[in-house]
Amino acid sequence: MFEQPIPTLRRDGDAVLILDQTALPFRSETLRLATLADAARAIRDMQVRGAPLIGATAAHGVALALLHDSSDAALEHALQALAATRPTAVNLHWALARMATLLRPLPAADRLAAAWAEAEAIRADDAATCDAIGRHGLKLIETIAARRPGPVRLMTHCNAGWLATCGAGTALAPVYAAQAAGIAVEVFVSETRPRNQGLLTAWELAAAGVPHTLIADNAAGLLLMRGEIDLVITGADRIAANGDTANKVGTWLKALAAQASGVPFYIAAPHSTLDFGCADGPSIPIEDRGAAELCMLRGIDASGGLAALRQAAPGTHAANPAFDITPASLITAIITERGIAAPGQLAGLYPEAAR
Ligand code: MRU
Repeated sequence: MFEQPIPTLRRDGDAVLILDQTALPFRSETLRLATLADAARAIRDMQVRGAPLIGATAAHGVALALLHDSSDAALEHALQALAATRPTAVNLHWALARMATLLRPLPAADRLAAAWAEAEAIRADDAATCDAIGRHGLKLIETIAARRPGPVRLMTHCNAGWLATCGAGTALAPVYAAQAAGIAVEVFVSETRPRNQGLLTAWELAAAGVPHTLIADNAAGLLLMRGEIDLVITGADRIAANGDTANKVGTWLKALAAQASGVPFYIAAPHSTLDFGCADGPSIPIEDRGAAELCMLRGIDASGGLAALRQAAPGTHAANPAFDITPASLITAIITERGIAAPGQLAGLYPEAAR
């Protein structure tokens, strides 16, 4: 099993410790969440991020909420507050639905222990799921490695590595599996403006010793067109019943360029990202994170302190949709913990959820 170099999320008695992703890739800082408000803020402000990790954090947030009051009212308030933090990643809502189904029928006195146990089960389940995604995705990388010499050149977008989950990651799980199997892989990492999650991907790949190259988002098309990429794998925040997929904004453009260049485009995602209740991509809510984060640049200053610099003129009108939809027709296949399926054929792998 993949072991996270630093746990992204773990229980610590009556609190939850998270790796603060707003300080990365500059500083590794652990934050202590002690209340429902702490957990909700961590998700909303992206101290934790990535669809599976958001879900696991929300589950732990329910346990935090019940620490001093496990009444029906407190439970419903926690479920609502956490559901309102971020709209697109369905893993958040999947985790809250799982907590609600378990906790609502229980006597109030039994809820806290059950909530901690279920939150831990969600965390452990995600770690195992990531490993299985890695094993299935490895087969795709092995096939390419057998076809030609040199490292397999894989492009990804955003961060769908261990930082985004409780385990190895989704899109990067096959990369870590290939590394463990001794197969050379080079990862092309798009910076993923405006939040620069690609810098998180570069950070975790560097720490793992995986060769990688950071590129500007707009360079992806050229690399694909020149035949310099063997396959694209990204994560997902929600996959609709027909296979249309929401992921970090810019994913669709990579899928378009991949199709135009004859390069296979894969999505890697766990069961908690599947939304059979959502018919298609246009039905998926897209988060708008506001103009401020687009108009500012974050980094560290000369003294090593975290700093924000304005890059757009004051008053500039800006739109900041955080996700886009890649239609099923552009997706070669979806890599899940149960195997690889064409988009729209996932019901065959998950008959119980598709019902
Ligand atoms: O806004 P973020 O950083 O939470 O968005 C993350 C992504 O879009 C990831 O690609 C997705 O959640 C898959 S993570 C395994």
